[in-house]
Amino acid sequence: MTLTIATIVGSLRANSNSERIARAIAAEAPKALSFDIVQIGDLALYNPDIDETSAPAAWTAFRKRIKSSDAVLFVTPEYNRSVPGALKNAIDVGSRPYGQSAFAGKPAAVVSSSMGPISGFGANHHLRQSLAFLDMPTLQQPEVYLGGVNDSWFDADGRLSKDDTRAFIGQFAAKFADWIERTAPRA
Ligand SMILES: Cc1cc2nc3c(=O)[nH]c(=O)nc-3n(C[C@H](O)[C@H](O)[C@H](O)COP(=O)(O)O)c2cc1C
Repeated sequence: MTLTIATIVGSLRANSNSERIARAIAAEAPKALSFDIVQIGDLALYNPDIDETSAPAAWTAFRKRIKSSDAVLFVTPEYNRSVPGALKNAIDVGSRPYGQSAFAGKPAAVVSSSMGPISGFGANHHLRQSLAFLDMPTLQQPEVYLGGVNDSWFDADGRLSKDDTRAFIGQFAAKFADWIERTAPRA
């Protein structure tokens, strides 16, 4: 059985490290996992007034993609010791209307990265705070904090060229697959 992983990248930047890491996770993961990178850059800032009258098509499409997935993987950089605004907005959009959260009950995992040594720790844990409120069972171990990430980590095709990190994220993805099997809502 194939499990679809809605993959939300916290960076909107072309050639983002986070997106290249997300693609590396997909490449190293067990074949049973299929990663669907869900774009968040076209989601208007969340406003409940608009949601009540004329929810933008991009919000509706985003919610559908999350709802139809088996689990959600977040791969994010840290902005000012927290999650980037675009990612927080995507979480807000997916969490509403009240009582109809697309995220509720979906197993989740968090990967953070940074060019610097702190490895997105602040973003990782602020995100985990939201995921607790969203009732998303979130993989605890292994934690994935990737520090010192820069272009030298990737080859000309954007593939991760560090063997040790590839092995680590492969182990992480295998644990995530087990976690989804253990925690996914049963029909
Ligand atoms: C607005 C902004 C705030 C940032 N704040 C932090 C920060 O708090 N901690 C950190 O380690 N890096 C910070 N950075 C650097 C990012 O970690 C770095 O740009 C990273 O490569 C972004 O990920 P990406 O390649 O996926 O876009 C910040 C970058 C921006 C644009």
